[in-house]
Amino acid sequence: MKYPPVHYHTYLGLDPLLTAQHRKSLEYGKPAHDEMLFIIVHQTYELWFKQILFELDAVLKIFAQNEIAETDMGFACARLERIVSILKLVIGQVDVLETMTPLDFLDFRDMLYPASGFQSFQWRLIETKLGLRTGDRLAYNQAPFFKSLTEEQQKLMLDVLDEPSLFDSLDKWLARTPFLQSKDYNFWDSYKKAVQTMFNDDIETVRGNPRLTEEDKKKNIEGLQNTLKSFDALFDETLFEKLRAEGQFRLSYKAWQAALLIQVYRDQPILQGPFRIIRALLDIDESMTTWRYRHALMAMRMLGQKIGTGGSSGHKYLAEATAKHKVFGDFFNLTTFFIPRSQIPPLPKAIADKMSFHY
Ligand code: HEM
Repeated sequence: MKYPPVHYHTYLGLDPLLTAQHRKSLEYGKPAHDEMLFIIVHQTYELWFKQILFELDAVLKIFAQNEIAETDMGFACARLERIVSILKLVIGQVDVLETMTPLDFLDFRDMLYPASGFQSFQWRLIETKLGLRTGDRLAYNQAPFFKSLTEEQQKLMLDVLDEPSLFDSLDKWLARTPFLQSKDYNFWDSYKKAVQTMFNDDIETVRGNPRLTEEDKKKNIEGLQNTLKSFDALFDETLFEKLRAEGQFRLSYKAWQAALLIQVYRDQPILQGPFRIIRALLDIDESMTTWRYRHALMAMRMLGQKIGTGGSSGHKYLAEATAKHKVFGDFFNLTTFFIPRSQIPPLPKAIADKMSFHY
């Protein structure tokens, strides 16, 4: 044998792992059966959070490079997609904890004050490394979110807050996307023309519809013109920057353009990898929101209107955080500016050739 023998039990560190469930209810002489489930479900979450962070750190390393090789792009996609699978799995774990009834929970809840998920360092790391900024968070107890952590964790968190998040690196990477503009081609101009043609055609269709009254036609045309107006932000950088400062967009203008190019021409071989990255980030944001929502409902079911052990308003806080705590909202908003496939301007041959692989 090339390597010394390994035993399943020691390799997996099962002694410390399986003796790390200490029921407070037992300690206080009032054993509550369901406290074991409560502890194990939380511990499994924390193990999965560890795995998510392991994947996320690898992706951050890839995106920290100034040039990303195709092979690295494949690794980044695979790791982000793995995070999505884990998040989907942990959403399902809520079902297991919900087999505990609120009365069963009340048997030991009072023994846990002031411990709370607020103190989950790993969850806060995931949010922060993805790009949730302190200012994006719901204000709680008039103190920054990291004040709930231990002093040592607070120091580590301050370091992480100083490092570029995945959102930051992604913005830079998108902004470096080639193909947006070359000597004979300007993606933005061609997309703008296609948008205008599409709306003009729609307006003509409404005008020529014999089944609509003049009043209906006027209303429909006004509606179309208003939608066209919402595209102004897309084509007018000054307006975009103004709306960005107001918080309507987070990506830089160039990154935003690139994200649109990638989505619109995603069938081009060279854009498949970037498209998968964007899709995985959408999935991560959506899955985290779904988890927050399921968790908020679970808290409602267990606590009703009671406040949380960490001192928040309980369900109300969690529901508001679900709506607010998003990182890749731009990718969702981008869909507003999609046009039907049939209206997408074909790429000039020289650009299409550059985007293709030939064997
Ligand atoms: C009986 C089940 C649970 C109830 C009633 C519950 C309740 C709550 C409440 C009320 C809060 C708000 C903070 C506070 O005032 O304490 C909270 C936060 C949190 N809980 Fe739970 N929780 C439960 C299970 C879980 C599980 C299984 C996890 C998995 C790790 C978890 C992770 C978190 C996290 C990460 C936060 C912070 C959320 C944020 O600030 O955005 N909770 N929980």
